[in-house]
Amino acid sequence: APSDPDLVARARAAKEKLGDRVFVLGHHYQRDEVIEFADVTGDSFKLARDAAARPEAEYIVFCGVHFMAESADILTSEAQQVVLPDLAAGCSMADMASAEQVAECWDVLTEAGVAEVTVPVSYMNSSADIKAFTGRHGGTICTSSNAKRALEWAFGEGEKVLFLPDQHLGRNTAVRDMGLTLDDCVVYNPHKPNGGLTPQQLRDAKMILWRGHCSVHGRFSLDSVREVRERIPGVNVLVHPECKHEVVAAADQVGSTEYIIKTLEAAPRGSKWAIGTELNLVRRLANRFAAEDKEIVFLDRTVCFCSTMNRIDLPHLVWALESLADGTVVNRIQVDAETEKYAKLALERMLALP
Ligand code: 13P
Ligand code: SF4
Repeated sequence: APSDPDLVARARAAKEKLGDRVFVLGHHYQRDEVIEFADVTGDSFKLARDAAARPEAEYIVFCGVHFMAESADILTSEAQQVVLPDLAAGCSMADMASAEQVAECWDVLTEAGVAEVTVPVSYMNSSADIKAFTGRHGGTICTSSNAKRALEWAFGEGEKVLFLPDQHLGRNTAVRDMGLTLDDCVVYNPHKPNGGLTPQQLRDAKMILWRGHCSVHGRFSLDSVREVRERIPGVNVLVHPECKHEVVAAADQVGSTEYIIKTLEAAPRGSKWAIGTELNLVRRLANRFAAEDKEIVFLDRTVCFCSTMNRIDLPHLVWALESLADGTVVNRIQVDAETEKYAKLALERMLALP
């Protein structure tokens, strides 16, 4: 549905009043009505860099989810304030690894005698606490666009990787890009004693995968790949690496949201694509490329929005911008100094990856 014209006018007016004092970042999974007001759009890696590259902006309004706003706060200066228009915009995957659980896991690894040779690699989609844990133990952050480089780096530093919190990105990258086998990977279940693993299993494993996943990407199945190939002959299946391994193995191409967009931009006229990622992005791409005669469909029959990304809507954005324009900072996301220090170390290791 088209946006409420009154809200559109109010968002415009508030942004104009704030001028360069505000910088609005929009993740690719955001609604159209929000993307319209983003100064820059991107995947989580690009947005982290973009936030860090705006020292003149007093306010960073992050249209995305909580962990992204935290990362922006960590990477920006003390004077800059990061605002998340709706505090309920969390991420179920990030919530699957708590600081206590991860500390307990490290104890289990220590008892098995493997902690010393293990390097933690944490997906951007994790809380600042988990990033700080990663920094403290000599590890790095990664996103879906640099997971391979992060693993290459980590295996140069140690013998094993503890990958948090997305088992699928960890497994897919290990098997597709690092030449590891499925047997080299074990899954640590934080709800079981010792993660459900024996010390021997931990010693034999190369990748220790945290048992987390994305509920949105987890819905794509091997059946959805088979079904779309039957329905659309010649279709290219392009999926996000947060999908299950069997889906990724059956796809033609795999990549982050930014990679998906670039691939479609470069695709020839008349080509056909089934995309396995969040629906706001897929719909926007389908509309955008229809004019170039590229057929783009959603990989699954069911509707697949990320409900927490969708929390950021135009009314919340208007409220955040108007409050800032009136001199009130609402919904500020602020990471405490101690957590920030170590989380920053891990994020900076990521930014320095070759
Ligand atoms: P990217 O934007 O890094 O591809 O991540 C996808 C995602 O799930 C963000 O929450
Ligand atoms: Fe989290 Fe998945 Fe939503 Fe991304 S798409 S914010 S990983 S729940």
